[in-house]
Amino acid sequence: MRAIREVREDELNELARITIEAFPGMKVDSQEARDRMLDRLSKVMKEPTVHFFGVFEDDDMLGVMRCYDFTMKLHATRTLVGGLGGVAVDLRHKKEHVAADMVRFYLDFYRRKGAALAALYPFRPDFYRRMGFGYGVKMNRYRFRPGDLPAGGAGSHVEYLTTADREELAACYDRHLERTNGLIQMPSHVLDSLFSDPALHIVGYRAGGELRGYIVFRFESVPGDNWLASNIQLRMLIHDDQMALAALLGFLRKQADQVERIVYETQDESFHHILTDPRDGSGSLLAGLWHQTNTQGTGIMYRVIDVARLFEVLRDHDFGGVTAVVRLDLIDSFLPENGGSFRLVIDAGRARLAPGEAADVAIGMDVSDFSSLVVGAIDFGRLFAYGRATISDESFAPLVGRIFHAAAPPWCLTNF
Ligand SMILES: CC(C)(COP(=O)(O)OP(=O)(O)OC[C@H]1O[C@@H](n2cnc3c(N)ncnc32)[C@H](O)[C@@H]1OP(=O)(O)O)[C@@H](O)C(=O)NCCC(=O)NCCS
Repeated sequence: MRAIREVREDELNELARITIEAFPGMKVDSQEARDRMLDRLSKVMKEPTVHFFGVFEDDDMLGVMRCYDFTMKLHATRTLVGGLGGVAVDLRHKKEHVAADMVRFYLDFYRRKGAALAALYPFRPDFYRRMGFGYGVKMNRYRFRPGDLPAGGAGSHVEYLTTADREELAACYDRHLERTNGLIQMPSHVLDSLFSDPALHIVGYRAGGELRGYIVFRFESVPGDNWLASNIQLRMLIHDDQMALAALLGFLRKQADQVERIVYETQDESFHHILTDPRDGSGSLLAGLWHQTNTQGTGIMYRVIDVARLFEVLRDHDFGGVTAVVRLDLIDSFLPENGGSFRLVIDAGRARLAPGEAADVAIGMDVSDFSSLVVGAIDFGRLFAYGRATISDESFAPLVGRIFHAAAPPWCLTNF
C-alpha cells in the first residue's frame, strides 16, 4: 500500500541516499560531504515553512520531495504559493508513477492550504509542462567588462554589509519586492545563508543613513594560468533608486583592473542598455549582424492550482480597466477538478467568477499556458498567434490582451 507522509528526522539518511543517487552531479561522494548534507537537511527540515515528504510502500521509502510555503507578490497582491524542489525517486522505482503521485499530492497539499498557485524549477521543462506547469520569464546571462558600466559619481561610497545589517537588507529587498511582480518573500534561512557563506560578499549603499541598495557577489577564477585574473559572479543587484544603482555599478566598475568580466544572471531583458559595450565576449554574431549580448534559459514554472481561489486573490487587481464577460475554458488533464469552464465578469477592471451562461467572448487554453498568462510571463496575443489559445471571436483578441496584460513580467530571485 502506497502512502505519502512527512519524513521523520531519523529517516533523513534514506532521504539523503535517494537524493544523492538521483542527483549524482551534486558530487556528494565522501562521508564528510554526506555528513555536511545531513547536517544542512536536518536544519532545513526544522524550518516551519519547509516540508519534507516521502512516498512509502510499507516501510520502504521510494521517493522524496520538499514543499515550501512561499509568499509571492502576484501583481499587486502578496499570496501563498507552494514551491516544489528536491524531487527524487529511488533508482529501482522509476517509471512507477512515484513522481506523478508526489506532484499530485503536492498540488492537493497547497490547494488545501488555500494557495492559488504553485511554482518549481524543472529538471526538464517538458516533464512538468505535461503536468500543467507553464513557463515563466527566461533568465539572461550577461558577461560584460567592468569598464563598460557607468561610473558612480562623487559621493557614491559603498560599504560591506554584515549580519548586523540583516534586517536593513531584508527591508531593502522587501521594498524591491513591493515594486515588482513575482518576487518571493525571502525566507529567514535564505537570508541567513547570505551572511554565512564566506565566499559571498555583500556591498551596500546608504543615503541619509538608510540602506538604499546592495549587491551580492563572489569571485570566480578565469580558466588558464593567470591566478591573478578573475571574474565576478553578480548574484543579486537590488536598488531603491538611480543613486543607489549608480553607486553599486560604480563600485563594480572600479574592479576593472583585476576583474575580466562580470557575469550577471538576471531576468532583466533590458540590462544591456546600461552597458557601453553590451557584447558578451563570445564574438558570436547571430542571424547576420546581431552581436551576442547574453545567453538565455528557461527555468521557473508556474501553475494555477485553484482557479476560483486565483480570482479571489486577484480581486483587487486591475484587469486592464476592461468591462466585459469572458468565458474561460481550461484544460487540466493532471488536475481535472481545476479545469472546466469559468465565467469571468469584469467590471471596470475588477474581476470575479459568477455563474451563468452569457459571455461576450470565450477563450480556451491548457492550464500551463493560462498559468504563464496570468502571472504575466506572456501576452494573450502571443499565445493566440502560436495556436496555444483559442478565441470565439478574433476581434476580441486585443481586449483579452488588455485584460491579461501585466504591468511587469514576473521575476524570481529565490532558488529552491
Ligand atoms: C525525474 C524523476 C523524478 C521521474 O520519476 P518517475 O517516478 O520515474 O516518474 P513517473 O513514473 O511518475 O512519470 C511521470 C508520469 O506522469 C504521467 N503524467 C504526466 N503528465 C500527466 C497528465 N497530464 N495526466 C496524467 N498523467 C500524466 C506521465 O505519463 C508519466 O507516467 P507514464 O510513465 O505512465 O507515462 C526521476 O527519474 C528522478 O528521480 N530523476 C532524477 C532526479 C531528478 O531529476 N529530479 C527532478 C528534480 S525537479
